[in-house]
Amino acid sequence: MAHPGVLLSFEGGEGSGKTTQARRLTDHLKGLGYAVTLTREPGGTPLGERIREVLLGRNDELSPLEEFLLFSTARAQLVRTVIRPALEASHIVVVDRYYHSSYAYQGGGGALSMDYMQAVTAGIVGDCALDLVLLLDVEPHTGLSRCSYAGGKDGTASDRFEGKGVEFHRKVRDAFISCAQAEPERFAVIDASESIEDVFARVRDAALEVLRARGLQPSSK
Ligand code: TMP
Repeated sequence: MAHPGVLLSFEGGEGSGKTTQARRLTDHLKGLGYAVTLTREPGGTPLGERIREVLLGRNDELSPLEEFLLFSTARAQLVRTVIRPALEASHIVVVDRYYHSSYAYQGGGGALSMDYMQAVTAGIVGDCALDLVLLLDVEPHTGLSRCSYAGGKDGTASDRFEGKGVEFHRKVRDAFISCAQAEPERFAVIDASESIEDVFARVRDAALEVLRARGLQPSSK
C-alpha cells in the first residue's frame, strides 16, 4: 500500500445529490472519530477554484480536449497539495468528483479518447488510487429537473455542462455505468432517485465496508 489513507470519490450526473451525500458521509465519519478531508473537483485549491469559474462559466468556448486539460491541471494541483498529503496523514479523503467525471463528460459526452485521458490521468494521480467510487445514478431528466428547480448552481443560471441538453447527459450516464462495469470491485452504484435518507444508508454501508476491509481505525479511539 503506497499510503495509509483511504480515498473515496462521489460521481454522478447533474442533480444526483453527490454534494449533499459527500457532506453527510464526511460528518458521519467524523462523528465516528475518523480524520476526514472533504474536497471537490474542479476546485479544492485556490487555482482549482479559479479554473472552476472558467470551466463552469459560459463565456469561453472550449473543446472537450481543452476542458480535459483544464480539469487535469486543477486535478494535478489538488492531488499534489491536498489529496496526497491527507492520504499520507492516514486521513479518509472524500472527493466530490474525480477523474471518472472526465471519462464520463469529456469522454462519454465529448467523445475524447479514453486511452489518451487514462494515460494523462495515470501520470496525475500516481499512487493516489481510489478505494471506492460511490456512483449516484439518476436518470438525466430527473437530475436536470432537480437542478432547474434549484435555479442552477449558487442560485445562478445553469452552467456550461447543465446547459448541454439531455442527449449529452444520457451519454455521460452511460459512460459512468461503463466505468463501473469495467471495475465492479471499485464501484458502488447507488440509485439516486431514492430519498436522501435511503441513498445515505447505501452510501454509509458501502463506505464502512471499505474502511473495515482496509482496517482503518478512528484516530480518536
Ligand atoms: P458540480 O461540482 O456541481 O458537479 O459541477 C462540476 C461540473 O463539471 C459538472 O457539470 C461536471 C463537470 N466536470 C467535467 O465535465 N469533467 C470533470 O473532470 C469534472 C471533475 C467535472
